Amino acid sequence: MSFTNIKVQTKDSLAQVTINRPKKLNALNKETIKELNIAFEELEEDEKIRAIILTGSGEKAFVAGADISEFADFSVEEGTRLSKIGHDTLFDYVENLSTPVIAAINGFALGGGLELAMSCHFRIASDNARMGLPEVSLGVIPGYGGTQRLPQLVGKGKAMEMIMTAGMITAADAKECGLVNHVTTQDELLPFAENIANKIMKNSKLAISAAIRAVNASYEDGVNGFSIEIEEFGECFGTEDFIEGTTAFINKRKPKFK
Ligand code: COA
Repeated sequence: MSFTNIKVQTKDSLAQVTINRPKKLNALNKETIKELNIAFEELEEDEKIRAIILTGSGEKAFVAGADISEFADFSVEEGTRLSKIGHDTLFDYVENLSTPVIAAINGFALGGGLELAMSCHFRIASDNARMGLPEVSLGVIPGYGGTQRLPQLVGKGKAMEMIMTAGMITAADAKECGLVNHVTTQDELLPFAENIANKIMKNSKLAISAAIRAVNASYEDGVNGFSIEIEEFGECFGTEDFIEGTTAFINKRKPKFK
């Protein structure tokens, strides 16, 4: 499938999705959100793909937010719908993919851009990156999961301050508060992300997807994460990967997962 606003490249089992509207600092318009949904759906269905890196094109931005020009004249109903469709088709969708998604934040990650990075399973940033949720400066609140995922990652007090001030934090600050796991130079960002993806791809794809479900369960309303862990742990015993992993260990060889 060919896209207008994103690029999808695959190399063996690794995919890279690049949001490609650099003149608009990769702002998420409706079409881009739709294309991202299609791309992630296709990659999730592709059994060969074992990890995905998500980044932005150009040197300036990962994503500078939802496209403000598209919603400036929206009504209450349209605003609610915008948020709901975003949650369902992209932000919650990415968080719940069984294929690991790493955000490689290469510049501004603001508003919907930071919310997209926070939907990924973890984040790496280049040292020029700036992150924030500036929505209240526009008279609105984060509507793509930011009010929920930012406190999960950085704690309630820090999240409240970031949301209320609408300010940006540096990559170093983001690492200190747990919003990103690593900070690299701009040149090193993608090789660094690939290096981590390679480590992930050596492990059992089935077990990784079970781990994602169990970790995410802890944040789901009315769901007991410990019970989900028990179920997912048990299910692993019925997989070929479990037989291969344990047999390889006992025979002192490296596992070869299918
Ligand atoms: N939506 C729509 N267009 C956006 C955008 C967004 N979120 N962010 C940037 N752009 C566009 C600008 O309008 C500009 O387009 P133009 O050249 O046609 O005028 C282009 O991207 C470049 O942005 P510009 O503001 O000129 O770059 P800058 O380096 O001076 O500033 C930012 C960079 C990120 C500080 C600034 O673009 C900004 O504040 N963007 C909005 C961030 C935001 O509030 N996001 C949350 C949205 S809910």
